[in-house]
Parts: sequence; structure tokens; C-alpha cells
Amino acid sequence: MLVNRPPMGWNTWNTFGKDISDSLIRESTDAFLDLGLKDAGYQYIVIDDCWSRRTRDPETDRLVPEPEKFPYGMKSLADYIHERGLKFGMYSCAGQRTCADYPGSFDHEFLDAETFASWGVDYLKYDFCYKPQGVEGPWLYRRMGMALRASGRDILFSACNWGSDDVWSWIRSTGAHMYRSTGDIMDNAESYRKIVKSQLPKLGTSAPQCYNDIDMLTVGMYGKGLVGTTGCGDADYRSQFALWCFFSAPLMLGCDIRHMNETTRSLVTNRDLIRINQDLEARPPMKSGRPWNENFWTLFKHLDDGTYALGFFNMDEKDGETYANFSDFGLPNHAGYDVTVRDILGDEGEQTYREYMRVKVPAHDCKVYIAKLVKR
Ligand code: GAL
Repeated sequence: MLVNRPPMGWNTWNTFGKDISDSLIRESTDAFLDLGLKDAGYQYIVIDDCWSRRTRDPETDRLVPEPEKFPYGMKSLADYIHERGLKFGMYSCAGQRTCADYPGSFDHEFLDAETFASWGVDYLKYDFCYKPQGVEGPWLYRRMGMALRASGRDILFSACNWGSDDVWSWIRSTGAHMYRSTGDIMDNAESYRKIVKSQLPKLGTSAPQCYNDIDMLTVGMYGKGLVGTTGCGDADYRSQFALWCFFSAPLMLGCDIRHMNETTRSLVTNRDLIRINQDLEARPPMKSGRPWNENFWTLFKHLDDGTYALGFFNMDEKDGETYANFSDFGLPNHAGYDVTVRDILGDEGEQTYREYMRVKVPAHDCKVYIAKLVKR
């Protein structure tokens, strides 16, 4: 079994787009280690679109790294990453061209999978642009799923068809380990909120070995880079990161990690949040909130050790108070249990509540607790 927890790593796209190079990847690998990301559980360094030449090698038909960007080739980069105990990811596309108009893998799936394996690739993100007319999307993912298995190397298969063709209903059968379910994230509050709202009802099919991928994080971008737009403040980044954790979504960082600030570093390495994300059972959260204001969310998630994650999210423009009525999650008052919660983002420590809990949450922000039941 290749994957039994949501994959964690860093991907070039959100910040760098086509501006990628050997030195960027090596510097980011070094930063990855210096920041303690590896110790926190992050593993994959992933090069997204725009790494190859515009055409295949005319003699071998193979993909060729663009020599100006990657003068030492991909094997050398893979070695650099592997020597540091990390894993190496690359990108291709199910259609004839990639989304940024480089050669895609259509009808070259087995050759390309062999090439990736020979370079030491551990992870393949597989996009969905330029699909030939009349070809079924699911069939293209079946092919690459098969090709990766045949390659003789363990390669994580990260499908990226943006939720087309009801992807959640068939993707697991192709051998994929994660599947993008939405269009591209932008670095603003509306974008990540829209993404989580669209997927909340569909989390029941995201499960160990094949996780719903709600896109690379914009946490720490502050408006810089390709998907930068207006950027977010730290309250929104806290909410975004916590929501990805409640959703058991892959945690692929997308900021320039060479310049990550301390606020971002401590958020993305928060042990308790990562523990929620990496829970082996990956159960979807239950949701309640304030019935008269749909911008307040309360999420309650079963964890594999018998504790629970409890999150309060304020997606409103004003500070506000939100609630957890424990009976909404299956704990009626007459059952005779109280709930002890431990604050994992702030310094409230431990407190015990009976029947319900009220929490003040600033606009755009969240509060997250680990909860356990205690018999009265
Ligand atoms: C999009 C994909 C992005 C990025 C981009 C590259 O289709 O959703 O995450 O990979 O293509 O061109």
C-alpha cells in the first residue's frame, strides 16, 4: 500500500507557474528541511506544469526537460531530493497538450510512466486539458493508473480533472491516490470558501488510499505569485489550513517556502492540526452552526483514537459568536457526558462544557479544539 494518509508536500504552481528551475527546486528542498517541514510530516516536492520542452524528442518520442530550466536533467534533481529523505513529484496531462501547452501524455502513457520511473519520480500529478474529442475522461485516468503500476516503481497517482464526470464515483477504481475535485484555487477568501462549500457534501467518498484533493494551499502567499490575486490575512490562512485538515485533504503547500514567515511556519507545522488531517480513518466532519446565519460553521470529526476535532469557523465579515449543541453530533444531554476541550490554536488550555458550547470567533477566523467525552 502506497498511501494511507493524506499526502503532504509542496508544489510549484501556485506561486511560480512557468518560472521554475533546477535552482528553485534545490533551494526549496533546502528550505523544506530548514523549516522543519519534513519533521512535521511533509514529504513531496512537486514540479507542476512547464518543465519540459515544447516538443517530444523526435527520435525516442520521450518527454525532455527544458535544458534552460533543468540543465542537469530530472534524475539529478530526484537524487538531490532523495538524498535528503524526501520524495520527488512531477506533472503531466491526460490530453494531447498540458494546460500550459507542453506535450501531454495522451497515447504515450506507458512510455511516459517508464520515463518518470527511470528518473526516480515518486508522485505524478495528472491534469485534464486538451482531451481528444470523443474520448471518455475516466478511460484516460484508467490508462495512466495502469501505466504507473506497470512502470515498476511506486508512484503516487494524483488525478486532476477538476471534479469532471462525477470523479468521486469512479476515480478510486483507477488506482489514483488523490483526486482534484474543484477548479483552481486563488489566493483570496472567496476562493477557498467556495471550494470547501462545494465539497462538504461530497466528503463521504474521500477515504484512505484515495483522498479528495481540494487543491494546493495558498497559505502564506499573501497575494504574491501566479494565483496571488488579493491575498489573504492570517485569519483566513488559519481557517483555510484548518478546513483542509478537517476535510482530510492532501496538504500541498503553494507559497514560496524559501521566504516563509514564522506565523505561517508555526501554522503549517501545528502538530495537532496535522494530527487531525493525518487521522487514519479520515472520516468526514459533521456540520452544524447558527441556523439563521450560514456563515458560521461548527465541524465535529471523529478521530481514530476515540477523541474528536471540534472547529468553529466564522466566514462572515463581522466578529460573532457561534455554537456547538452537542446533541447535533449524537450526544444528547441525558446521556450523562460532558465534553472537555483543549484549544489547539490559542492559549485557552482545557475547559469542560455541558450540553453546548458558545465560542466567540473574529471575522474570517476559526477556533479549533481536540475534544473528549467525560462521564459526569
Ligand atoms: C490546471 C491545474 C493547476 C495547474 C495548472 C497547470 O489545470 O488545475 O493545478 O496544474 O493546470 O497548467
